[in-house]
Amino acid sequence: MCGIVGYIGHKCARPILIEGLKRLEYRGYDSAGLAVLNDGQVAVSRAVGRIANLEARLNGDGANATIGIAHTRWATHGGPSERNAHPHIAQNGRIALVHNGIIENYRTLRTFLEGMKVCCQSETDTEVLVQLIGHFYKGNIEQAVRDALHEVQGTYGIAVLCADEPDRIVVARKGSPLIVGIVGPGEYIVASDAAAIVQHTAQVVYLADGEMATIARDGFRTTTLENVPVTKEVQAVEFSLDQIELGGYEHFMLKEIFEQGQSLSMTLRGRLNTREGVIHLGGLANHTRDIARARRLIFTAQGTAWHAGLVGEYLFEDIAKIPAETEYASEFRYRNPLIEPGTVVIAISQSGETADTLAALREAKEKGALALGVINAVGSTIARESDAGVYLHCGPEIGVASTKAFTSQVAVLAMMAIQLGRRRFLSQPEAKNLIDALARIPGQVSAVLEQSEAIRKAVEKYIHRENWLFLGRGYNYPIALEGALKLKEISYIHAEGMPAAEMKHGPIALINEGMPVVFIATRCSQYEKVLSNIEEVRSRGGRIIAVATEGDEHIREMAQHVFYVPDVPEPLQPLLTVIPLQLLAYHAAVLRNCNVDKPRNLAKSVTVE
Ligand code: G6P
Repeated sequence: MCGIVGYIGHKCARPILIEGLKRLEYRGYDSAGLAVLNDGQVAVSRAVGRIANLEARLNGDGANATIGIAHTRWATHGGPSERNAHPHIAQNGRIALVHNGIIENYRTLRTFLEGMKVCCQSETDTEVLVQLIGHFYKGNIEQAVRDALHEVQGTYGIAVLCADEPDRIVVARKGSPLIVGIVGPGEYIVASDAAAIVQHTAQVVYLADGEMATIARDGFRTTTLENVPVTKEVQAVEFSLDQIELGGYEHFMLKEIFEQGQSLSMTLRGRLNTREGVIHLGGLANHTRDIARARRLIFTAQGTAWHAGLVGEYLFEDIAKIPAETEYASEFRYRNPLIEPGTVVIAISQSGETADTLAALREAKEKGALALGVINAVGSTIARESDAGVYLHCGPEIGVASTKAFTSQVAVLAMMAIQLGRRRFLSQPEAKNLIDALARIPGQVSAVLEQSEAIRKAVEKYIHRENWLFLGRGYNYPIALEGALKLKEISYIHAEGMPAAEMKHGPIALINEGMPVVFIATRCSQYEKVLSNIEEVRSRGGRIIAVATEGDEHIREMAQHVFYVPDVPEPLQPLLTVIPLQLLAYHAAVLRNCNVDKPRNLAKSVTVE
């Protein structure tokens, strides 16, 4: 989604801003721009497409400037064009603004501005905000921003420059993240994502909703929108530069798939007591009693995180014996859900910023539910607004298609289910058995990854097929959904995932000679039934690609291609069965020359509805 970077200090701002924008590229964007203050003037450059296009536009004007703001835009209001790219400039040419989020009442504000003879040049909702700031400006940019924001409905993370106050950047947030990085005395970098900051400093301040900051060469101050001073804690960013670099891999997605042994270790670290068969989740410590007494659990999320929620539903009913269901956050938030006493809502999100998931969490809290977060990004909005939660600690995920975050989400949900199970009906030996198996999982990932080249060769055979099916049952049904989503989002092949038994109720009509059908057919309670489903596809000419349990030779007779995962207890199978499907999607995308890390039309974090 859109990205913001701002810099003030003693170095040349432009290279720092461009580098920062490149660090945010992974979030997805369609145009970019920057503004610096140079000799008392605002110098703006904008370009459609890649950041390289913006770089090519930069001329000598502003090369030595030491203050500037920059933006990557992902179009919402107004198509991707140079005119609509940020920064937007006030009519007098003296104020520049970059904005993430949506100004919902922009039409009303635009009419008001037109009445004041202020004309907007772009089709964006953002431009009305900078024009409004220009309208209110009477020599104090901080006050003008405050006055303008009081008129605005919607969400924003903004950074504002004023040519008449060349020693400060004013930033504010409501619903869109902003982080101030403290580089050194009088030197700051502000961004919407820590990835643009870590190369300069690990010391950051996370702005909260409804807060503003004026970042000046002589220090920065934080206030509320009502100008009440706020004391902020300086925090350390959790990750380092090498975690957001390719490190020899061709794509971030591949790097993150291959990292899963390590990322799962980080998620499990310090939380499993294999000796006593106990799980320790510090973030839930004050609430385990309430959660164990829950009458109903609702997982809410979007995209891949929703699939993790679906695995959670199986885990919680099976292991913890608590009624559980999974809902798209976008549906949950608007359908006036019934929240009875004893309901626990668990929001799952890698970024912790997905707009719908955040809104669902707020809805749940408002209606009296205990609201928990299973989040990767430390300090993110959902993490801060949850009553309690568990961090994934799997390191930053840069690839747009979520991989390592998914396995860590499932690992966290498995730990939660075992912990709660112990407070309910799960015996100590049963818990110990699962915990021992969970502890072994990171070491078993490599056995799956070793098959990457074999998976590539298999995919190559079907690379021109435009329709794929992914089928699984029980714990592997969500994995079928996830496998299909991965293939769709990065290789643009149409794929559907569903419970294997559901195939007979319609989709079987699609199966024709040579159609690739992926079965997750591990040894599990429904293994025999899955084999029957395989027969049904085979007899209609479908080609079978199976994910099976190590040692299963029988399945070789039925499938054209078999990829093996180590034998683990059924509830933990999704942690391994998803990996061959991630690799399958990755290789398909590469073979079709798709831009794996920047798939068309997609954003890493969807912070608008
Ligand atoms: C976007 C991403 C997906 C992700 C989903 C939810 O659509 O492209 O990979 O699963 O958002 O994101 P979250 O950060 O809430 O997990």
